[in-house]
Formats: sequence, C-alpha cells, structure tokens
Amino acid sequence: MGLLENLQWRYATKKFDNTKKVSEDDITFLKKAISLAATSYGLEAYEVLIIENQDIKDRLKDASWGQAQVSDASHVFVFCNNTKISNELIDAYMDRKSNDQGIAKENLQGYGDFMKNTLLALPEDEAAHWTRRQTYIAGGNLMVACAELQIDSCPMEGFEAEKYNEILELDKDGLNACLVVPVGYRSEEDNNQHLPKTRKSLDQMFRHL
Ligand SMILES: Cc1cc2nc3c(=O)[nH]c(=O)nc-3n(C[C@H](O)[C@H](O)[C@H](O)COP(=O)(O)O)c2cc1C
Repeated sequence: MGLLENLQWRYATKKFDNTKKVSEDDITFLKKAISLAATSYGLEAYEVLIIENQDIKDRLKDASWGQAQVSDASHVFVFCNNTKISNELIDAYMDRKSNDQGIAKENLQGYGDFMKNTLLALPEDEAAHWTRRQTYIAGGNLMVACAELQIDSCPMEGFEAEKYNEILELDKDGLNACLVVPVGYRSEEDNNQHLPKTRKSLDQMFRHL
C-alpha cells in the first residue's frame, strides 16, 4: 500500500490482540525510523524505552488511567525527554558529529559554543519543554513506520508521568516519560477500527497564501 493508504489504515488502537508479538526484525526497523527523526540542532535530547516485560507493562497500565493498550500491546515505546540540557549532552553530540561526519573537533567548537550559549541559558522549565517537544516528531516517525509494516499503534498522553518515572527509574538518568506508544496488532473486537476517520476538510485545515 502507498503512504496515504497506510495512514488511512492506521488508527489509535484501543484494543490489541495480546497473543500477537511484533518480530525482532520489525522492532529493529521501528528503532531505525525513530532514530532517523529530525531533532533541533540534531541534539537528540531524549531516549526511548521499549518495554516487553509483562509485569512492567501491567504496572504501567495502572499508571495510564487503566488503559489496556499498555498491558495488551506487544511492545510499549516510552519516549523520555532529557529534563536538563547539560554541557555533557552537547559535548556528546559534538563527538558523534565529529566521528560521523569526519569533522575535526576544533572545527566544531564554534557550533558547540553557540549551542551552549543558547541552550544552557534557557530557564529549566523551558529547556524541559523544548526537549519534550522533540519527542513528538520521533513518535510520528514511529507511527508512520508502524503503518508501513501494518503494525498497529496508539499514541498516548493519558498517563501519570510521575508514576512512569518512578516505575522506570527515570529520574536518576535525568529523564521524564512524556509520550507513550504501545505497538502490536489490533484485536478483531476493537470496533474503533471500523469507524470512519474524523478530520477537518482540507479547506478547513489549510490556507494558501
Ligand atoms: C498526543 C496524543 C495523545 C493521545 N492520547 C491518547 C490516549 O491517552 N489514549 C487513547 O486511546 N488515544 C490517545 N490519542 C489518540 C487520539 O485520540 C487519536 O489519534 C485521534 O482521535 C485521531 O484518531 P486516529 O488516530 O484513530 O485517526 C492521543 C493522540 C495524540 C496525538
């Protein structure tokens, strides 16, 4: 199927078939799609937990307003933003850039200093907001990649971040759970799959100037 058909096919899955597992090859494909997301400056100020362990998924369901997608899905992707932007985070990016693009570190000094001057000056809550926003683009990549493989997904903000942070011990790594995407295969019993999509018309959504 083409891109638009895949996007039409996907829907926010409410009930997963808990007997079906996504293969390791497909999980690798999804990881690559997330990894290729655009990020501001290229900083990638987030990490993604992929949870398959049933006991952890059950605990996360309780922290997700009881939404069963979290316990029934094959894998649960938890996007976690860095709560602070540090010198170390930027230096690690400069190292990656230097290695991957073959640029001498001294030639990246100006770019690194510019990033530090801009990002380290942000108030803490603004910095956390900024890193949080980046994860949504990666989450979009994940959902599109899922649709391409005919894997179902459900983007979710309906969860208690503090409880996730505790269960997954994210605080100690300076991370915060901000977006959850369970993936797997839809249950035949999920009636939502038969509902037509509700969307603004193109005329309502777009203004050409
Ligand atoms: C940021 C975000 C948070 C969402 N949170 C939830 C959620 O907690 N639970 C849920 O069942 N669906 C959630 N949704 C799914 C939306 O309700 C759904 O995408 C929207 O109604 C459009 O329907 P469709 O995705 O099936 O086309 C969320 C979607 C987004 C983008």
